[in-house]
Amino acid sequence: MPENQILDGGADQEERAVEAALRPKTLADFVGQHKVRQQLELVLHGAKGRGAAPDHILLAGPPGLGKTTLSMIIANELGMPIRITSGPAIQHAGDLAAILSSLSEGEVLFLDEIHRMSRPAEEMLYMAMEDYRVDVIVGKGPGATAIPLELPPFTLVGATTRSGLLPAPLRDRFGFTAHMEFYDPIDLEQVVHRSARLLDLDVDAEAAAEIASRSRGTPRIANRLLRRVRDFAEVKGDGRGTVEAARAALAVYEVDERGLDRLDRAVLGALLNLFGGGPVGLSTLAVAIGEETDTVEEVAEPFLVRQGLLARTPRGRIATAAAWRHLGLPMPRTAPGAGQDALFDGASD
Ligand SMILES: Nc1ncnc2c1ncn2[C@@H]1O[C@H](COP(=O)(O)OP(=O)(O)OP(=O)(O)O)[C@@H](O)[C@H]1O
Ligand SMILES: [Mg+2]
Repeated sequence: MPENQILDGGADQEERAVEAALRPKTLADFVGQHKVRQQLELVLHGAKGRGAAPDHILLAGPPGLGKTTLSMIIANELGMPIRITSGPAIQHAGDLAAILSSLSEGEVLFLDEIHRMSRPAEEMLYMAMEDYRVDVIVGKGPGATAIPLELPPFTLVGATTRSGLLPAPLRDRFGFTAHMEFYDPIDLEQVVHRSARLLDLDVDAEAAAEIASRSRGTPRIANRLLRRVRDFAEVKGDGRGTVEAARAALAVYEVDERGLDRLDRAVLGALLNLFGGGPVGLSTLAVAIGEETDTVEEVAEPFLVRQGLLARTPRGRIATAAAWRHLGLPMPRTAPGAGQDALFDGASD
């Protein structure tokens, strides 16, 4: 993983393998997301009581918040097997028909990145979700015939990082949508403690708090930073996850107290030092720090906006008063947002 991506919410193949070992297996073991957990508990226990498959479930939220984890927990809580596939893996409606027709009764079908499925497959899915039936088209052209195929009742669990991209007819066919939120630091501390136990690493409360507060509300990042702290403790320290080891390790990876990394600080630094706090266009800002516009827009900005450090305006990007404070620079009177100090205060700290 490139160094400036240590705080990216996504994960590569290698990391996903490491993650499997850290996944909670039951709802009770799933940290945080109290609302979603409570809602899911009702849906699952209700269905179990009736001895029927529950409604189809959509899990929506940013990367690394636990969608894949929850899908496995759902199958586990129902005591049913799970079949795992993803939108990009389903190129043709036939691919989907093959999967659907081989499901057993009550099985959970996990469709990751459901917003990336092809249109014909999507239309087949509508009918399968509603009527437990698909029409398999045999042949081509005028001679083609549709053979109806009955499916056993199953539960579809869809996951998406972009629920806005789902067509309404698909969204409407889910009986329940879980909106995953970023985690509070308190919950992330628990994630860190839990993972440390599984990794057989001794982490003290202060170190866990330190890691949690820099993890951008994302369990995947908390687990990743924890592994970097473990490396540091083993190589440079006495093997224990103390707060000193945590701070030193995170300094090596250039993750600051607020969870900003090198890229985030480069964006803010250029905005303040070169453009007086803005407004400045996205592409100018990207060129100034030698990055692609996509990287600035998709990797750095969402977090900076969420932190109340940067704002997107029709005239360009501007820094807030909190951004000047975070980089320890005096805010010029003429800077945009200078008059709004009170507005941005409280909201950002
Ligand atoms: N509530 C939680 N409690 C403990 N660990 C969690 C929790 N949520 C996520 N994790 C951990 O975070 C990591 C990432 O979770 P997961 O793979 O489920 O995220 P995701 O939402 O599916 O991400 P993506 O959108 O990239 O597929 C896993 O290692 C998982 O164990
Ligand atoms: Mg996932």
